[in-house]
Amino acid sequence: MSYQHTLSIIKPDATRRNLTGAINAKLEAAGLTIIAQKRLHISKIHAQKFYQVHMSQPFYDELCEFMSSAPIVVQVLAGENAVAVNRDVMGATNPADAQPGTIRAEFALSIGENSVHGSDADDTAIQEIAFFFSEIELVG
Ligand code: CDP
Ligand code: MG
Repeated sequence: MSYQHTLSIIKPDATRRNLTGAINAKLEAAGLTIIAQKRLHISKIHAQKFYQVHMSQPFYDELCEFMSSAPIVVQVLAGENAVAVNRDVMGATNPADAQPGTIRAEFALSIGENSVHGSDADDTAIQEIAFFFSEIELVG
């Protein structure tokens, strides 16, 4: 067990449907603490930079178009094993494969419009948090 921070994003499909509170309730019920949060409408260029690890994927352009299509809510979640705990409560990338009760099982519209992003490892969490937040914005 280790205390960690992880980056979460509530995606445009979810903000459009007014699901920010419902998703936050699931994150908190999973034991995660939201120690930073802000609503942004990012440009496609920023989305391309954030998702550059997926640049060679066939879904990259559609993903970046989608992520810049409406507001997102970026968050830092904290807790014991926060990276893995958040991945568990998010559910599988494809909502058809997500466990019942997870955010994606309940709210995702498709494999692309799947309501939330979560960092996949401790090192990527550190990089992704630094992309959106400065130290002074993390209020633990
Ligand atoms: O978000 P997660 O870490 O579960 O999945 P990923 O493999 O890192 O992919 C990032 C995002 O790209 C997904 O959350 C989807 O929004 C999108 N994606 C897609 O549109 N089609 C795929 N076949 C795979 C991912
Ligand atoms: Mg990922």
